[in-house]
Amino acid sequence: MKLFIDTANLKEIEEASHWPFVCGVTTNPSLIAKEGLSQKEIIEHIARLIDGPISAEVTAEDYDGMLAQAHELYKIKPSNIVIKLPMTIPGLQTAKRLYEEHIPTNVTLCFSQSQALLAMESHATYISPFLGRLDDNGWDSARLIEDIVTLKKNYGYDTKIIAASIRSVRHVEEAAHLGSDVATVPYKVLKKLISHPLTDSGLATFAVDAAKTAKITK
Ligand code: G3P
Repeated sequence: MKLFIDTANLKEIEEASHWPFVCGVTTNPSLIAKEGLSQKEIIEHIARLIDGPISAEVTAEDYDGMLAQAHELYKIKPSNIVIKLPMTIPGLQTAKRLYEEHIPTNVTLCFSQSQALLAMESHATYISPFLGRLDDNGWDSARLIEDIVTLKKNYGYDTKIIAASIRSVRHVEEAAHLGSDVATVPYKVLKKLISHPLTDSGLATFAVDAAKTAKITK
């Protein structure tokens, strides 16, 4: 499963750009709003840091507005920009049109199997089910991933699943276990993926023992 970083924070992205397991970035209007720069500035900067898919979200609500914004965002770096679109009829119309123009898309705010089906039928490149927000509200996010993976298998859709709204290591592990193509993960959770107390204690013991060996001179 591929891992993207889910942030618009340039310091976090700069650090993650040196990690071999991070190969893309997703942003949204709320993440951008935290940074105090324009969306264009942020996306341009990210495009200099990461050579992988970078999701940039449109904010217009109508088809013409979305399409115009999509073209502007795509121009920033055509080799990497993925246009993030809302789960609405105009959003899916835009996904279909951008597919015809060979511009990749990521349909966001997916909370049900039927929404995923519509995005796949509209030729979205990616679909983003929101795990954390589902679980926060008493639904079962693992079940949704499982259902979307089944849809893909049943009909051979090319759309890739991005497990989004990740809150924990468990969400990432579950998404991988169930066959999600990608998980987009906040910086803090990415850091937690590599840590384990037994790794830490094992390393501490190895360091002590290595120091003992280093004292032995032949
Ligand atoms: O990028 C979209 C998604 O990952 C948002 O996550 O934490 O705001 O539910 P969150």
